[in-house]
Amino acid sequence: MTDLTTLESDLAAQVAAAGDLAALEAVRVAALGKTGQVSLLLKSLGAMSPDERRERGPLINGLRDRLTALIAGRRATLEAAALEAQLAAERVDLTLPAPPRRKGSVHPTMQVMDEMIAVFAEMGFSVAEGPDIEDDFHNFTGLNFPPRHPAREMHDTFFFGPGEDGERKLLRTHTSPIQVRVMRQTNEKPAAPQWASGQAPPIRIIGPGRTYRCDSDRTHTPMFHQMEGLVIDRNIHMGHLKWTLDAFCRRFFETDAVVTRFRPHHFPFTEPSAEMDVQCDRSGGSVKIGEGSDWLEILGGGMVHPNILRTCGLDPDEWQGFAFGMGIDRLGMLKYGMPDLREVFGADVRWLAHYGFSAFQAPNLASGLS
Ligand code: DAH
Repeated sequence: MTDLTTLESDLAAQVAAAGDLAALEAVRVAALGKTGQVSLLLKSLGAMSPDERRERGPLINGLRDRLTALIAGRRATLEAAALEAQLAAERVDLTLPAPPRRKGSVHPTMQVMDEMIAVFAEMGFSVAEGPDIEDDFHNFTGLNFPPRHPAREMHDTFFFGPGEDGERKLLRTHTSPIQVRVMRQTNEKPAAPQWASGQAPPIRIIGPGRTYRCDSDRTHTPMFHQMEGLVIDRNIHMGHLKWTLDAFCRRFFETDAVVTRFRPHHFPFTEPSAEMDVQCDRSGGSVKIGEGSDWLEILGGGMVHPNILRTCGLDPDEWQGFAFGMGIDRLGMLKYGMPDLREVFGADVRWLAHYGFSAFQAPNLASGLS
């Protein structure tokens, strides 16, 4: 009798002293677990005589019930305290600044392409496109590169296996095929509805897009971007080409101090042909436009070769035109000081965060054509 009273008060003291749920659970297991003190007392009932059991049974069961209730009560208290503590610790502090959000950015090449389109759109050019996977005719033959012409060598690219007709398609080496697609009006179905479907002169288009060559160094990548330009009208001459490109450079580089020069060159699809350089300062690891004594090539151009006009069904005695092709990524490197072209396509988010543009920043070209 006394032993049960002592045990009960002892256990009650242990329950009251349990400081957390783990300690309380230890007390419960020691008393009511499989081999706990109270459980063993309950088990001992089986070995007693009926009289003894009648006397001890209610006492031991009562002890078990009271202890169980005591533990449940203590658990509720401890759980409430734990919750209180957690709530106090995790209180939302509305005065804290919001954590920074990861923002995407517009890739410099896309930004530069938009800026270029904005300048040419002001001059009345519209945008035409062509497929990345071209056929030999549009990429070469139609542009006056006959089979085995040595200039094809400079356009080493990626060819596909022969198709059903035995022809091998290729990843276009330049955006010039867009010229042919635009000029050939009736005798050719466009490759896909969105591609330039041909139009009669006068023609004034630019053709931005991806281009491919087997090349890789600081200023060359196997995939890059070009923007083609084509103007066909009556009495077009080289002076129009020079003015257009000079005006473009002043607007694009946002300075009237741009100095350009034309160097004679050769392209199968233009006659005469030229390359255009921009004067700049390349000392000190960066490029500054409008000063210095270095020259950087930014494009090729010239008067559209009469053979191209004839191939596209236009009479060269009636229509003339100029064309040019510029490297979009190259222009971006110059304008925004990106030293290595390979990083432009490296997909490194740190590089993109540094050189990328806010999606809300419209092309910053508000000064008007001069
Ligand atoms: N397609 C030439 C290239 O990739 C660039 C070019 C030169 C385009 C002269 C033209 C042009 O339209 O007239 O090197």
